[in-house]
Amino acid sequence: MKTILTGIKPTGTPHIANYFGAIKPALESAAKNSPLERRGGTEGDGVVKSFFFIADYHSLTTVKCAKEMQQLSKEIACTWLACGLNPNKTIFYRQSDVPEIFELSTILGNVTAKGLMDRAHAYKAAVQAGENVHIGLYTYPILMAADILLFDTNFVPVGQDQKQHIEIAADIANSFNAIYGKVLTVPEPQIRKEVAVIPGLDGQKMSKSYGNIIPLFATSEELLKCIKRITTDSSAPTDPKSTDHLIFKLYELVATKEKTVEFKRLFAQGIGWGDAKMALFTELDVYLTPMRVKYNQLMADYSQVERILADGAKKARKVARVTLDRVRKAIGI
Ligand code: TRP
Repeated sequence: MKTILTGIKPTGTPHIANYFGAIKPALESAAKNSPLERRGGTEGDGVVKSFFFIADYHSLTTVKCAKEMQQLSKEIACTWLACGLNPNKTIFYRQSDVPEIFELSTILGNVTAKGLMDRAHAYKAAVQAGENVHIGLYTYPILMAADILLFDTNFVPVGQDQKQHIEIAADIANSFNAIYGKVLTVPEPQIRKEVAVIPGLDGQKMSKSYGNIIPLFATSEELLKCIKRITTDSSAPTDPKSTDHLIFKLYELVATKEKTVEFKRLFAQGIGWGDAKMALFTELDVYLTPMRVKYNQLMADYSQVERILADGAKKARKVARVTLDRVRKAIGI
Protein backbone atom coordinates (compact mmCIF):
# COMPACT_ATOMS: atom_id res chain seq x y z
CA MET A 1 0.00 0.00 0.00
CA LYS A 2 1.32 3.41 -1.00
CA THR A 3 0.86 6.53 1.08
CA ILE A 4 0.09 9.86 -0.50
CA LEU A 5 0.05 13.10 1.44
CA THR A 6 -0.49 16.70 0.60
CA GLY A 7 -0.72 19.97 2.50
CA ILE A 8 -3.01 22.82 1.65
CA LYS A 9 -1.96 26.27 2.70
CA PRO A 10 -4.85 28.50 3.72
CA THR A 11 -4.01 31.64 1.82
CA GLY A 12 -7.01 32.75 -0.20
CA THR A 13 -10.50 32.04 -1.44
CA PRO A 14 -10.31 29.13 -3.88
CA HIS A 15 -11.04 29.69 -7.55
CA ILE A 16 -11.84 27.47 -10.47
CA ALA A 17 -8.23 27.07 -11.60
CA ASN A 18 -7.33 25.85 -8.07
CA TYR A 19 -10.12 23.34 -8.34
CA PHE A 20 -9.26 21.85 -11.72
CA GLY A 21 -5.51 22.25 -11.33
CA ALA A 22 -5.00 21.08 -7.75
CA ILE A 23 -8.03 20.10 -5.70
CA LYS A 24 -9.65 17.73 -8.17
CA PRO A 25 -6.45 15.90 -9.19
CA ALA A 26 -5.42 15.48 -5.55
CA LEU A 27 -8.81 14.05 -4.67
CA GLU A 28 -8.57 11.71 -7.61
CA SER A 29 -5.18 10.51 -6.38
CA ALA A 30 -6.70 9.80 -3.01
CA ALA A 31 -9.68 7.93 -4.39
CA LYS A 32 -9.47 4.20 -4.04
CA ASN A 33 -8.11 2.46 -7.13
CA SER A 34 -6.71 5.66 -8.51
CA PRO A 35 -3.94 4.88 -10.95
CA LEU A 36 -0.63 5.88 -9.48
CA GLU A 37 0.76 6.75 -12.80
CA ARG A 38 4.13 7.66 -11.38
CA ARG A 39 7.31 5.64 -11.77
CA GLY A 40 6.97 4.00 -8.38
CA GLY A 41 3.37 2.95 -8.76
CA THR A 42 1.70 0.72 -11.25
CA GLU A 43 -1.50 1.48 -13.09
CA GLY A 44 -4.50 0.98 -10.85
CA ASP A 45 -2.50 -0.75 -8.17
CA GLY A 46 -5.36 -0.36 -5.79
CA VAL A 47 -5.63 1.03 -2.34
CA VAL A 48 -3.76 4.13 -1.38
CA LYS A 49 -3.55 5.51 2.09
CA SER A 50 -4.02 9.25 1.99
CA PHE A 51 -3.34 12.15 4.31
CA PHE A 52 -4.58 15.65 3.48
CA PHE A 53 -3.98 18.45 5.91
CA ILE A 54 -4.38 22.16 6.38
CA ALA A 55 -0.89 23.62 6.60
CA ASP A 56 -1.79 26.45 8.93
CA TYR A 57 1.68 26.84 10.44
CA HIS A 58 3.04 27.27 6.93
CA SER A 59 0.65 30.18 6.39
CA LEU A 60 2.24 31.98 9.27
CA THR A 61 4.92 33.28 6.91
CA THR A 62 2.30 35.51 5.27
CA VAL A 63 -0.91 35.54 7.33
CA LYS A 64 -0.29 37.62 10.43
CA CYS A 65 -3.81 38.37 11.61
CA ALA A 66 -5.55 35.90 13.93
CA LYS A 67 -9.03 36.51 12.54
CA GLU A 68 -7.85 36.05 8.97
CA MET A 69 -5.98 32.87 9.89
CA GLN A 70 -9.12 31.40 11.42
CA GLN A 71 -11.33 32.41 8.53
CA LEU A 72 -8.97 31.08 5.84
CA SER A 73 -8.47 27.83 7.68
CA LYS A 74 -12.23 27.39 7.98
CA GLU A 75 -12.78 28.15 4.28
CA ILE A 76 -10.13 25.67 3.21
CA ALA A 77 -11.52 22.88 5.37
CA CYS A 78 -15.03 23.43 3.99
CA THR A 79 -13.72 23.69 0.43
CA TRP A 80 -12.06 20.30 0.47
CA LEU A 81 -15.00 18.58 2.08
CA ALA A 82 -17.43 20.27 -0.31
CA CYS A 83 -15.28 19.18 -3.26
CA GLY A 84 -15.61 15.56 -2.24
CA LEU A 85 -12.89 14.74 0.25
CA ASN A 86 -14.17 11.69 2.08
CA PRO A 87 -12.96 11.79 5.70
CA ASN A 88 -13.66 8.07 6.05
CA LYS A 89 -11.11 7.30 3.36
CA THR A 90 -8.64 10.16 3.78
CA ILE A 91 -7.11 11.27 7.05
CA PHE A 92 -7.93 14.98 7.09
CA TYR A 93 -6.44 17.19 9.80
CA ARG A 94 -4.95 20.50 10.76
CA GLN A 95 -1.16 20.58 10.95
CA SER A 96 -1.35 22.57 14.20
CA ASP A 97 -3.25 19.69 15.85
CA VAL A 98 -0.34 17.29 15.35
CA PRO A 99 2.54 18.45 17.60
CA GLU A 100 4.67 15.48 16.51
CA ILE A 101 5.31 17.39 13.27
CA PHE A 102 7.09 20.17 15.14
CA GLU A 103 9.18 17.76 17.16
CA LEU A 104 10.31 16.00 14.00
CA SER A 105 11.02 19.37 12.41
CA THR A 106 13.46 20.20 15.22
CA ILE A 107 15.23 16.90 14.72
CA LEU A 108 15.45 17.28 10.95
CA GLY A 109 17.02 20.72 11.27
CA ASN A 110 20.12 18.93 12.47
CA VAL A 111 20.63 16.88 9.33
CA THR A 112 19.75 19.72 6.96
CA ALA A 113 22.62 21.61 5.38
CA LYS A 114 22.31 25.38 5.53
CA GLY A 115 23.29 25.50 1.87
CA LEU A 116 20.21 23.46 1.00
CA MET A 117 17.98 26.13 2.55
CA ASP A 118 19.98 28.89 0.87
CA ARG A 119 18.99 27.40 -2.48
CA ALA A 120 15.24 27.21 -1.81
CA HIS A 121 13.32 29.23 -4.43
CA ALA A 122 10.91 31.00 -2.08
CA TYR A 123 13.69 32.12 0.23
CA LYS A 124 15.89 33.24 -2.66
CA ALA A 125 13.04 35.21 -4.22
CA ALA A 126 12.33 36.98 -0.91
CA VAL A 127 15.99 37.90 -0.52
CA GLN A 128 16.16 39.17 -4.08
CA ALA A 129 13.03 41.26 -3.55
CA GLY A 130 14.82 42.86 -0.61
CA GLU A 131 12.23 41.57 1.85
CA ASN A 132 12.86 41.34 5.55
CA VAL A 133 13.25 37.56 5.71
CA HIS A 134 12.14 35.71 8.81
CA ILE A 135 13.63 32.44 9.98
CA GLY A 136 10.18 30.87 9.53
CA LEU A 137 10.47 31.40 5.79
CA TYR A 138 14.04 30.15 5.80
CA THR A 139 13.15 26.90 7.58
CA TYR A 140 9.82 26.48 5.75
CA PRO A 141 11.17 23.52 3.72
CA ILE A 142 12.25 21.72 6.92
CA LEU A 143 8.77 22.00 8.40
CA MET A 144 7.39 20.74 5.13
CA ALA A 145 9.82 17.81 5.18
CA ALA A 146 8.55 16.97 8.67
CA ASP A 147 4.94 17.04 7.40
CA ILE A 148 5.87 14.54 4.74
CA LEU A 149 8.40 12.26 6.44
CA LEU A 150 6.34 11.79 9.60
CA PHE A 151 3.82 9.70 7.68
CA ASP A 152 6.18 7.55 5.60
CA THR A 153 4.84 9.25 2.52
CA ASN A 154 5.62 7.71 -0.88
CA PHE A 155 4.02 10.29 -3.15
CA VAL A 156 3.17 13.94 -2.72
CA PRO A 157 0.60 15.23 -5.24
CA VAL A 158 1.53 18.87 -5.81
CA GLY A 159 1.80 21.51 -8.48
CA GLN A 160 5.03 22.12 -10.34
CA ASP A 161 5.82 25.06 -8.02
CA GLN A 162 6.22 22.69 -5.08
CA LYS A 163 8.58 20.27 -6.80
CA GLN A 164 11.71 21.68 -5.19
CA HIS A 165 10.19 21.38 -1.74
CA ILE A 166 9.57 17.68 -2.22
CA GLU A 167 13.09 17.21 -3.54
CA ILE A 168 14.40 18.96 -0.44
CA ALA A 169 12.31 16.64 1.76
CA ALA A 170 13.84 13.67 -0.08
CA ASP A 171 17.34 15.12 0.44
CA ILE A 172 16.67 15.55 4.14
CA ALA A 173 15.37 11.97 4.43
CA ASN A 174 18.50 10.70 2.68
CA SER A 175 20.78 12.74 4.95
CA PHE A 176 19.02 11.35 8.00
CA ASN A 177 19.22 7.80 6.69
CA ALA A 178 22.90 8.18 5.81
CA ILE A 179 23.63 8.87 9.45
CA TYR A 180 21.12 6.71 11.28
CA GLY A 181 20.27 3.89 8.89
CA LYS A 182 17.15 3.32 6.87
CA VAL A 183 14.65 5.04 9.17
CA LEU A 184 12.76 7.44 6.93
CA THR A 185 10.82 6.78 3.74
CA VAL A 186 12.10 8.88 0.83
CA PRO A 187 9.19 10.68 -0.86
CA GLU A 188 8.63 11.56 -4.50
CA PRO A 189 6.59 14.38 -6.02
CA GLN A 190 3.52 13.34 -7.98
CA ILE A 191 3.09 16.04 -10.57
CA ARG A 192 0.27 15.45 -12.95
CA LYS A 193 1.28 16.45 -16.43
CA GLU A 194 -2.18 16.20 -17.96
CA VAL A 195 -3.76 18.54 -15.44
CA ALA A 196 -5.88 21.26 -17.00
CA VAL A 197 -4.36 24.72 -16.95
CA ILE A 198 -7.24 27.14 -16.77
CA PRO A 199 -6.40 30.72 -17.64
CA GLY A 200 -8.10 33.70 -16.02
CA LEU A 201 -10.95 35.80 -17.48
CA ASP A 202 -8.43 37.88 -19.42
CA GLY A 203 -6.32 34.96 -20.68
CA GLN A 204 -3.47 35.51 -18.20
CA LYS A 205 -2.79 33.04 -15.39
CA MET A 206 -5.83 32.95 -13.07
CA SER A 207 -4.81 34.71 -9.90
CA LYS A 208 -6.51 36.82 -7.28
CA SER A 209 -3.81 39.45 -7.67
CA TYR A 210 -4.74 39.90 -11.34
CA GLY A 211 -8.44 40.28 -10.52
CA ASN A 212 -9.32 37.72 -13.17
CA ILE A 213 -10.64 34.78 -11.15
CA ILE A 214 -13.87 32.81 -11.16
CA PRO A 215 -14.47 32.04 -7.47
CA LEU A 216 -15.29 28.38 -6.97
CA PHE A 217 -18.29 29.09 -4.78
CA ALA A 218 -19.68 32.17 -6.53
CA THR A 219 -23.48 32.39 -6.62
CA SER A 220 -25.11 31.70 -9.99
CA GLU A 221 -25.52 35.46 -10.53
CA GLU A 222 -21.86 36.13 -9.77
CA LEU A 223 -20.86 33.26 -11.99
CA LEU A 224 -22.80 34.68 -14.91
CA LYS A 225 -21.22 38.09 -14.35
CA CYS A 226 -17.75 36.53 -14.37
CA ILE A 227 -18.43 34.60 -17.55
CA LYS A 228 -19.69 37.72 -19.27
CA ARG A 229 -16.37 39.37 -18.45
CA ILE A 230 -14.31 36.71 -20.28
CA THR A 231 -12.20 38.45 -22.90
CA THR A 232 -13.13 37.60 -26.49
CA ASP A 233 -12.23 39.08 -29.86
CA SER A 234 -14.33 41.08 -32.28
CA SER A 235 -14.81 38.30 -34.82
CA ALA A 236 -18.30 37.91 -36.30
CA PRO A 237 -20.64 35.18 -34.99
CA THR A 238 -20.28 33.36 -38.30
CA ASP A 239 -16.47 33.24 -38.06
CA PRO A 240 -14.88 29.98 -36.92
CA LYS A 241 -13.44 30.19 -33.40
CA SER A 242 -10.35 28.63 -31.90
CA THR A 243 -11.03 26.08 -29.17
CA ASP A 244 -7.83 27.26 -27.47
CA HIS A 245 -9.91 29.61 -25.39
CA LEU A 246 -11.07 29.68 -21.76
CA ILE A 247 -14.70 29.26 -22.80
CA PHE A 248 -14.05 26.01 -24.63
CA LYS A 249 -11.50 24.71 -22.11
CA LEU A 250 -13.89 25.14 -19.22
CA TYR A 251 -16.85 23.78 -21.16
CA GLU A 252 -14.89 20.65 -21.98
CA LEU A 253 -14.19 20.07 -18.30
CA VAL A 254 -17.78 20.27 -17.16
CA ALA A 255 -19.98 19.12 -20.04
CA THR A 256 -20.59 15.60 -21.31
CA LYS A 257 -18.50 14.18 -24.16
CA GLU A 258 -21.41 14.48 -26.59
CA LYS A 259 -22.09 18.10 -25.71
CA THR A 260 -18.38 18.87 -26.03
CA VAL A 261 -18.23 17.32 -29.50
CA GLU A 262 -21.20 19.45 -30.53
CA PHE A 263 -19.65 22.57 -28.98
CA LYS A 264 -16.45 21.91 -30.88
CA ARG A 265 -18.42 21.62 -34.09
CA LEU A 266 -20.10 24.96 -33.38
CA PHE A 267 -16.72 26.57 -32.75
CA ALA A 268 -15.47 25.30 -36.12
CA GLN A 269 -18.62 26.40 -37.87
CA GLY A 270 -18.98 29.76 -36.15
CA ILE A 271 -20.77 30.67 -32.94
CA GLY A 272 -21.39 34.07 -31.37
CA TRP A 273 -19.31 34.67 -28.26
CA GLY A 274 -22.46 35.63 -26.36
CA ASP A 275 -24.09 32.29 -27.15
CA ALA A 276 -20.91 30.42 -26.31
CA LYS A 277 -20.78 32.18 -22.94
CA MET A 278 -24.38 31.31 -22.15
CA ALA A 279 -23.77 27.66 -23.05
CA LEU A 280 -20.75 27.63 -20.75
CA PHE A 281 -22.68 29.27 -17.92
CA THR A 282 -25.44 26.67 -18.11
CA GLU A 283 -23.03 23.73 -17.89
CA LEU A 284 -20.72 25.26 -15.31
CA ASP A 285 -23.56 26.29 -13.02
CA VAL A 286 -24.98 22.77 -13.05
CA TYR A 287 -21.53 21.37 -12.32
CA LEU A 288 -20.75 23.74 -9.46
CA THR A 289 -24.12 23.98 -7.72
CA PRO A 290 -23.91 20.81 -5.60
CA MET A 291 -20.45 21.79 -4.31
CA ARG A 292 -21.61 25.33 -3.60
CA VAL A 293 -24.62 24.07 -1.64
CA LYS A 294 -22.44 21.73 0.40
CA TYR A 295 -19.87 24.46 1.03
CA ASN A 296 -22.48 26.89 2.31
CA GLN A 297 -23.93 24.19 4.54
CA LEU A 298 -20.57 23.37 6.07
CA MET A 299 -19.65 27.03 6.59
CA ALA A 300 -22.98 27.60 8.34
CA ASP A 301 -22.53 24.61 10.64
CA TYR A 302 -18.82 24.44 11.20
CA SER A 303 -19.08 22.22 14.29
CA GLN A 304 -19.39 19.14 12.06
CA VAL A 305 -16.16 20.14 10.32
CA GLU A 306 -14.46 20.66 13.68
CA ARG A 307 -15.45 17.10 14.61
CA ILE A 308 -14.05 15.72 11.37
CA LEU A 309 -10.77 17.57 11.89
CA ALA A 310 -10.50 16.44 15.53
CA ASP A 311 -11.06 12.86 14.47
CA GLY A 312 -8.51 13.24 11.67
CA ALA A 313 -5.92 14.63 14.09
CA LYS A 314 -6.44 11.66 16.38
CA LYS A 315 -5.85 9.21 13.54
CA ALA A 316 -2.87 11.17 12.22
CA ARG A 317 -1.24 11.35 15.65
CA LYS A 318 -1.49 7.60 16.04
CA VAL A 319 0.55 7.09 12.87
CA ALA A 320 2.85 9.99 13.73
CA ARG A 321 3.69 8.53 17.13
CA VAL A 322 5.02 5.33 15.60
CA THR A 323 7.37 7.17 13.22
CA LEU A 324 8.49 9.64 15.85
CA ASP A 325 9.30 6.84 18.33
CA ARG A 326 11.36 5.16 15.61
CA VAL A 327 13.19 8.40 14.88
CA ARG A 328 13.82 9.17 18.57
CA LYS A 329 15.18 5.69 19.10
CA ALA A 330 17.49 6.12 16.10
CA ILE A 331 18.92 9.37 17.47
CA GLY A 332 19.15 8.08 21.03
CA ILE A 333 16.53 10.33 22.64
N1 TRP B 1 4.09 24.47 0.63
C1 TRP B 1 2.84 23.97 0.15
C2 TRP B 1 2.16 25.06 -0.70
O1 TRP B 1 2.52 26.20 -0.62
C3 TRP B 1 1.91 23.55 1.25
C4 TRP B 1 2.46 22.40 2.05
C5 TRP B 1 2.88 22.44 3.35
C6 TRP B 1 2.62 21.07 1.60
N2 TRP B 1 3.29 21.21 3.75
C7 TRP B 1 3.15 20.33 2.72
C8 TRP B 1 2.36 20.41 0.38
C9 TRP B 1 3.43 18.99 2.60
C10 TRP B 1 2.67 19.06 0.29
C11 TRP B 1 3.19 18.35 1.38
O2 TRP B 1 1.25 24.77 -1.43
